[in-house]
Amino acid sequence: MSRSVRLVPAVAAATLVLALTACDDEGAPDASGAPGLGDPYFPKAGNGGYDVSHYGLTLAYTPEGNRLSGTAAVTARATEDLAAFDLDLAGMEVEAVTVEGGAAEFRRDGQELIVRPRDTLSEGETFEVRVRYSGSPRTITDSDGSKEGWLRTEDGALALGEPNGSMAWFPGNHHPSDKASYDVAVTVPKGLTAVSNGELRSERRADDGRTTFAWHAAEPMASYVATVAIGRYTVTRPTVTRTSDADADAEAQVEADTEADAAPDTGAGSGSAAEGGLPVYVAVDPSQVAASRKVLARLPEVMEWAETNFGPYPFSSAGAIVDRPEDVEYALETQNRPVYPGAPDLETLVHETAHQWFGDSVTPKNWQDMWLNESFATYAEWLWAEDEGGATAEETFTELYDHGEDEYEDLWAFPPAKPTTAAHISDSPVYQRGAMVIHRIRTTVGDDAFYDIVQGWAAAHRHGNASTGDFTAYVEQQAPDEDFTDIWADWLYGEGKPERP
Ligand code: TRP
Ligand code: ZN
Repeated sequence: MSRSVRLVPAVAAATLVLALTACDDEGAPDASGAPGLGDPYFPKAGNGGYDVSHYGLTLAYTPEGNRLSGTAAVTARATEDLAAFDLDLAGMEVEAVTVEGGAAEFRRDGQELIVRPRDTLSEGETFEVRVRYSGSPRTITDSDGSKEGWLRTEDGALALGEPNGSMAWFPGNHHPSDKASYDVAVTVPKGLTAVSNGELRSERRADDGRTTFAWHAAEPMASYVATVAIGRYTVTRPTVTRTSDADADAEAQVEADTEADAAPDTGAGSGSAAEGGLPVYVAVDPSQVAASRKVLARLPEVMEWAETNFGPYPFSSAGAIVDRPEDVEYALETQNRPVYPGAPDLETLVHETAHQWFGDSVTPKNWQDMWLNESFATYAEWLWAEDEGGATAEETFTELYDHGEDEYEDLWAFPPAKPTTAAHISDSPVYQRGAMVIHRIRTTVGDDAFYDIVQGWAAAHRHGNASTGDFTAYVEQQAPDEDFTDIWADWLYGEGKPERP
């Protein structure tokens, strides 16, 4: 389900304030990294000069007063000599910064937290920067008018990060090109649950009733798909068992293991996979439990279907977070565990599941490559319908070609690989017209080669990053006898409505 169909597209003004930074304060080429990575749509996102391998976030949150405090321990490798470097952090008060255990100078400039360690870091050196911070995390309004960052909910909060929101709740290198593993521990008041990505390693209740949930996400993750959901949740932990972890065609079955909200202290978490099993952690707002039950029961089936089509599931756990539709306006493919705004429909479940391969495992190199995520996730909905005996993908394509503008007014407004501005990266050309590009590839190469290409692409860049150029080169290399010139020129990069194929 595309976000574009749910949003009023008119709010075009970029409301996110990207303050200019003067990082090279002395004007000298002072080895101070860079305040952005030059993303064509979000130039200040991310920072130059280092590469993060791990985030260790130790946080505490109190919904009353919206108070978040904690420490971010960021492990990174300098890719050049660094006398100073930036992290992205919007709002919050920074209390202290250390680099390799030594106090470091820091200052704020818009979304940049500029850190100057006592000693210059050398190219190739791995270092740990720790930031102690607190405050009321903010909600960020996207360039298309939707809300992300830290969202307060009826009973807690929810962190959403596409494309810019993660800088609202932890300092980091907030660009999709720098993926890392995460440990996120969140302490919340009695009766609340804190859910994040990956596996729940421990759940410990202190004497005062506050509980700390420690989550571990081992596989590389882009910060825009990192999440924390805090509130009252009904948690179920089915295990998807597969006859062989690596076998994409393995039979999936569910062993339901339901428990009440706020489970008693178990000490050890649920994370440990029973032999060959994939742990699944599903957290549903109590008001959404009844309406969600039927669709969420089909998650194992959808995952098995996705493995058959896209190859082995790329992560060590799965699940879902369902909040109230009043609290969130769109679904997001947060890693391992997508967020849904109320009980999901089956199409949305398929869409967010497909994103685990396309977006989360194979992540765009920059925000211009966004269509690589949404085209595949949308095409997954078409394939699901086809496999379930609904419209074939060919019928969906033809219907869109002939009447697409009835539903998607802006369908031909710009080509999938060239959104006009940052305000348009979630519009229908990226989703529906992007899916039409994928379908054109399929009809050109035939089904066997098509599924080989899809699975090969997911495997080639598993846990990595890829660009549109990488994709077109990959397709050409896999089908050397076909000519894709017109598909790329007219459908992917070309302005206006292409000729009927
Ligand atoms: N990626 C989400 C989905 O389709 C939608 C979305 C949320 C989005 N936030 C965004 C798309 C920001 C582009 C930009 O499931
Ligand atoms: Zn999507």
